[in-house]
Amino acid sequence: MMKGLDSLPVAGRVVLLRADLNVPLDGATITDDGRIRASLPTINNLRERGSRLLIAAHLGRPKGDAYAERAAGGPSLAPVAARLSELLGRPVPLAADVAGESARAIAAGLADGDVAVLENVRFEPAETSKDDTVRGELAGRLAALADAYVGDGFGALHRKHASVYDVPALLPHAAGELVQAEVAVLERLTSHPERPYVVVLGGAKPSDKLGVIANLLGKADRILIGGGMSYTFLAAQGLEVGRSLLEADRLDDVRQIMADAQARGVELVLPVDLVGATGFAADAAHQVYPATAFPADREGMDMGPATRKLYAEKLADAATVFWNGPVGVFEFPAFAAGTRAVAEAISKLPGFTVVGGGDSAAAIRRLGVPEDAFSHISTGGGASLEYLEGASLPGLVALADGQEPR
Ligand code: 3PG
Repeated sequence: MMKGLDSLPVAGRVVLLRADLNVPLDGATITDDGRIRASLPTINNLRERGSRLLIAAHLGRPKGDAYAERAAGGPSLAPVAARLSELLGRPVPLAADVAGESARAIAAGLADGDVAVLENVRFEPAETSKDDTVRGELAGRLAALADAYVGDGFGALHRKHASVYDVPALLPHAAGELVQAEVAVLERLTSHPERPYVVVLGGAKPSDKLGVIANLLGKADRILIGGGMSYTFLAAQGLEVGRSLLEADRLDDVRQIMADAQARGVELVLPVDLVGATGFAADAAHQVYPATAFPADREGMDMGPATRKLYAEKLADAATVFWNGPVGVFEFPAFAAGTRAVAEAISKLPGFTVVGGGDSAAAIRRLGVPEDAFSHISTGGGASLEYLEGASLPGLVALADGQEPR
């Protein structure tokens, strides 16, 4: 159990809010602000209760050994602070550093109800260090900025990082509304899902999903595999996949998963036809091929019409659905039909339907499928998957009751 926001006295106090504002960018333009909007309930709750809000968040994966190198390479949280300012209708200043002179000055200048953002926390190499002492030093500097901590960065809870894992140990803390809502959904998916429980998994690589598939074999009734990862499953059955994405070193693992699924009576469904293109481009020449007759010189870009129909049928009786990962290269309109078909089939179901992962959520918004047609659209990809894999998430451990400041 975690303490909720209401248990934390915040009026007149500086609250360090760890949010996940890791939004997709095209240059400095935010292409999907879903994670910023999902953070608003907690931000508004804390503001309305008179806290002085200092938001810590990461953006991308800055490279380099030193702060200066990372900061020079970016990305800065400036576009995020600007978008937040628009959404809140008030100024949201951005500190020029993470936990240095600028951050201290901004924290000291906050009035009740104010909101400021710290610069990209991953500019500090210590944020992601595997060394507890190194992370601890940064955590100490971050904690010194505030009187209390709120963990609401659901999408980063699977990271044992200073701002996620170490700071809550140093301050009175609580879980934010987004984290509480996301965890309630994941608990429902794992502890008492209504049946049939159908899982749709797409995305590039089986290696990212083998753990979750293995765990779901004990819970789901049917698992539909699509997208880049499906080619490794097809190849594991001895089929030609041409120049499609393939994780050749995972073929044995995939065969094992398929055998386990059969032994446990879980239906594992693979594409029966594919859209093969001459190359990875929006305008590449393409046509539909049966999965049993895919040409060696083509690249799989989407599922074909027979698979779209099959997957819609396999979803039709579902009482619970979890979907993670696009099933085709939906960013290119010519190869978006599979992902659209999956999104539409799930959106029509009356049951409990959950979409997990930034890419699938972005696909829904980009394809114009109404967001409110799903029970829940998660802000966390890796975090949801690790939870469903049965892993303990460092950020949740840190927020659990009984973990009071040392
Ligand atoms: C995400 O985008 O899934 C989260 O923000 C975590 O980002 P990361 O994978 O770079 O740790």
